[in-house]
Parts: sequence; C-alpha cells; structure tokens
Amino acid sequence: MAAEETNKPEAVAIENVAAIFGVTGLVGKVLARKLISNPKWKVYGIARNHDHQITPIDQTPSNFHFIQCDLLNPLQTQKRLSLLQDVTHVFWVTWASQYQLDSVDCSDQNKAMMSNALDAMILNAMALRHVSLQTGMKHYVSLQGPFDDIKEARYYNEECPRVNPSCNFYYVLEDLLKERLNGKVGWSVHRPGLLIGSSSRTLYNFMGSLCVYGTICKHLNHPFVFGGTKKCWEETCIDGSDARLVADQHIWAATNVGLDDHGHAFNAINGPSFTWKEIWKALAEKLGAQASEEGTFSEDFWYSKAMADKKQVWKQIVAEAGLVQTEMDNLANWAFLDVLFRCPVKILGTRDKVDGLGFTVRYKTVDSILYWIDCMRDEKLIP
Ligand SMILES: NC(=O)c1ccc[n+]([C@@H]2O[C@H](COP(=O)([O-])OP(=O)(O)OC[C@H]3O[C@@H](n4cnc5c(N)ncnc54)[C@H](OP(=O)(O)O)[C@@H]3O)[C@@H](O)[C@H]2O)c1
Repeated sequence: MAAEETNKPEAVAIENVAAIFGVTGLVGKVLARKLISNPKWKVYGIARNHDHQITPIDQTPSNFHFIQCDLLNPLQTQKRLSLLQDVTHVFWVTWASQYQLDSVDCSDQNKAMMSNALDAMILNAMALRHVSLQTGMKHYVSLQGPFDDIKEARYYNEECPRVNPSCNFYYVLEDLLKERLNGKVGWSVHRPGLLIGSSSRTLYNFMGSLCVYGTICKHLNHPFVFGGTKKCWEETCIDGSDARLVADQHIWAATNVGLDDHGHAFNAINGPSFTWKEIWKALAEKLGAQASEEGTFSEDFWYSKAMADKKQVWKQIVAEAGLVQTEMDNLANWAFLDVLFRCPVKILGTRDKVDGLGFTVRYKTVDSILYWIDCMRDEKLIP
C-alpha cells in the first residue's frame, strides 16, 4: 500500500501563471519551453499563428494553452485576453514590425499593441505580480546618426541616458508600463544585443539568415563570405545574446527581484566579447561551407544582391532534405545581415548590474551559435 502510494505521480499545485506575448518568437519559444517544463507554472502563449515546434500537436502539456490573437486588433484582444484572469506574470517578447524602426508610425503601433493587451488584462488579472518587458541594446544608440568616429569602444550600462532626439519605441513601451502599472505591479526591462535562437516568425533573424546562407554556400560550393566593413569584421562591435540566457534572465527578474522593484533595467548579454573574424571559420565548418583564409572577408559583398536569385535553390534544398516547409524569407533577412555587418556604431554593454545581483548565466557567443545550429537541425529547419 505504502509502495503504491509512493509510485503515484503527485499532483503539483500551480503557483504562477505566465502570459507570454510573442510565444513563437526567438525568446518566446524558449521561455515557453522552460516554464512549461516546471509543473508549478501554467503558461498562456499568445501570437497570431501557432508553431507546433513549441509543443508537438499531439503532445500539448496540460499546463500550456495557445491563445491565437492579433494584438493590433483591440476588439479581438479584449475578447480573448480578458478571459485570462489568473495571470500572475506577463512576458512581453513581441513587437510590431510593420513600419520602419525609429519612425513615429513604428512607435505608435507598438504602443497601441501593448495598450490593447494592458487594457484587456489590468482590470481582470487581479493577481498580476510582474511584467517583464524585452527591448534591446538599441536603447543606447540612434541609428540615424551623426556617428562620431570614437576610437575606444563605449560599454553602455543601464543608467546611460536615452538618446535624443530619437523616436525609439523602446522608450514609449517603458513609459507606458510605468504609467499603466502605476507602482502597483512590479516590472523589469531586459535589453539583449544580437539575439541567437531559432524561429521562423522573426523579422530580424540572425541565425536564420546565417544558416540559410551557409547551407546555400555548401549546396552551390560557394565560399562562405563575410560581407561587411573591415571594422565590423575585425573589431568587437556587438554583444551576442543567447535566447536561453535572455529567457532565464526574464524568469530570474520576474521571480526574484521583488515586488517593490519598479522598472529595473538589465542588459541581457552573453558576456565574453567576440569578433566575427575570430569565429567565422568555426561557423563555416559547422555549416559545411568553405571559408578560405583569403577571400572570406569582402567589403564589396552584399547578401541582398548575392541571394536575390536563390529562392528556388532554397526550395530545392528544403525538398531534397525533407525539411519543414519554409520559404527563404521565413528564415533569412538579407538586408538585415547587410546592415548588421556594416553597422556604423558599436553597440556594447556591461553586465555589472546582473552580475552584482547574482544572475550567473553566461555563454561564449561562438558556442551559442553552434548550439543553435544544432537546434535548427533538430527542428528540421536546416539540413
Ligand atoms: N531579433 C533580435 O536580434 C533582437 C535583438 C535585440 C532586441 N530585440 C527586441 O526584442 C523584442 C522582441 O523581438 P524578437 O525579435 O525577439 O521577436 P520575434 O522573434 O520577431 O517574435 C515576435 C513574436 O511576436 C508575435 N507577434 C508579432 N506581431 C504580433 C501581433 N500583432 N499580435 C500577436 N503576436 C504578434 C510573433 O508571432 P506571429 O507573427 O505569429 O504573430 C512572434 O511570436 C523587440 O523589442 C526587439 O526589438 C530583438
């Protein structure tokens, strides 16, 4: 009798209820998997389209509920989200990407998206304890220029002032949260650098772009070229942010920082710095492409030009390798890669604040990239 009782799976009481906005995106997917695997969490995942790579269609765990909702539609958002009355923690890892970054339209649209969600939730989710907002390291710089040619790299900490004049939707979202939560609900903001993860729903998808490019190079026996500026090739210019680290940091802040903390900002970056030059060969080898010593770096190579006529090649690779059906554009954004490798400003941060508060997760960026190549293979997004 006693043995029988010991063998029975114990029902674990739900302690926290998450609403993940952007559950199919780079960080949303990881957050969902991490929280679902803990039976003390119940998870609502919100996006416009389901992605069954979060949880297989026939094995949806009982503590996960996908809510299909277009957050830009206020009536639909009100109808579907006002039902989620048991939410204790919100994770905002989404954004509206229709308009150009740093435009008034982009700010207005992102503000509307978050307002719609808050309107539907604030009065209904009475147990709401924390809202965790994801923005990015672009908080500290404007891509509109002017660009000073500063010799020494500057490392931004969380107290660095906002950039003026700028129309950055990150500022608008922080201000909106502060106003709407009004000191009654704790919140934190997380600022990743270049996100390294796996998704087919992401506009600025570095891993998708890199992997599709490398796969096509291998298929056509073309060299794996870094097309960008010498400065971006040889110098430390950007921080990598592994999606696992960013998800862990969201959970850490949401569950540890304390209710009386309102609007704590945290850089969410891997830690050790890197240059593309020192890791490029390892990336090429992992993707089975060739990076020769000479000819790997080119200032004249533009991904958007070189890849413009490769859609059919990708279709062929997908069919031959039996991959999940994707168009090249679902994974790769060539214009983004062109801008990233020619970025006129360095966007680098410090980790002192999270380190000081005891958040210890760190990755080497080359290891993050190699890990996520394996994940994309496991998900059958690339061969
Ligand atoms: N990507 C990067 O490298 C990077 C780097 C630093 C900072 N950030 C910042 O991180 C934040 C999140 O960006 P991300 O790139 O991580 O996200 P992402 O991977 O592009 O994911 C966006 C998520 O939001 C959902 N979504 C988009 N529009 C929606 C709508 N109208 N209604 C409901 N759901 C919607 C998408 O799914 P559906 O399309 O199916 O709705 C998807 O699940 C942004 O503030 C971004 O600027 C990103």
